[in-house]
Amino acid sequence: MNGTAMSLEGKRAVVIGGASGIGFAVAALSKEMGAQVVIASRDAARVAAAVERVPGATGLTVDLRDEAGVAGFFEALGAFDHLAVTAGDWGGTRFVATKDLDLAAARDGLEIRFWGVLAAVKYGSRTIAPDGSITMTSGLMAHRPRKGAPLATAIGGAVEHLARGLAVDLAPVRVNAVSPGMILTEIVKLAPEETLRAWVAGLPLPRGATPAEAATAYIYLMLNGYVTGQVVPVDGGGLLV
Ligand SMILES: NC(=O)c1ccc[n+]([C@@H]2O[C@H](COP(=O)([O-])OP(=O)(O)OC[C@H]3O[C@@H](n4cnc5c(N)ncnc54)[C@H](OP(=O)(O)O)[C@@H]3O)[C@@H](O)[C@H]2O)c1
Repeated sequence: MNGTAMSLEGKRAVVIGGASGIGFAVAALSKEMGAQVVIASRDAARVAAAVERVPGATGLTVDLRDEAGVAGFFEALGAFDHLAVTAGDWGGTRFVATKDLDLAAARDGLEIRFWGVLAAVKYGSRTIAPDGSITMTSGLMAHRPRKGAPLATAIGGAVEHLARGLAVDLAPVRVNAVSPGMILTEIVKLAPEETLRAWVAGLPLPRGATPAEAATAYIYLMLNGYVTGQVVPVDGGGLLV
């Protein structure tokens, strides 16, 4: 795509992590914008349930921890235009004193969100349209560290810098990242309400975002043909305070 389009009509968009949360909202909005949508994640039943909620979408399973599986996924998928990756686990290493860190768990924290994303890009880059885009997911904590969670900062930073490197390496395919603040996805809403309130209390916009608000950033990065190597925050002004 040259320049800026206002719809995804005629485009094929793939969302890895699309079975729930931010990814599901990206899939639903891509469909609304006219794309052919492929919802992918690890669990077949959850993919099937998501596909049912987005009429016309198709579903495939893929486990980003499994390189051969990722290769097979992209082979089965064939040609496509846009890839959004929101897949991630929330890690077992958060809010642990560094002196007590389980290093194996710390390494594992990068397994899906960095190495898994890189596997998806490796195989996806073979069949993505030259005017297509790849959008990854970092997080506000990349820039606003919290006591007890240095790895969350490191993982987000690694994703953002991977996007910058890939934007040059894979050009003209565009590569960007979205940096969510607190997005009220199903899994986030499991936290106690006071905890959620405390997280956003000092923000210029003191609330969590809807998954749909996060999804619009991914759609923007698919549509705008002149943006690459960038990080788009959806954080209620979290970078300002
Ligand atoms: N929500 C927030 O406030 C927030 C803020 C900053 C950053 N983030 C990051 O944004 C991403 C999405 O967050 P979310 O709240 O939307 O989370 P979510 O609802 O838990 O969604 C994560 C998705 O990733 C998929 N997934 C997990 N492991 C996978 C694997 N090995 N291979 C393929 N797919 C896998 C899950 O698939 P199954 O359902 O099939 O297991 C699920 O669909 C996460 O990486 C999170 O760390 C979120």
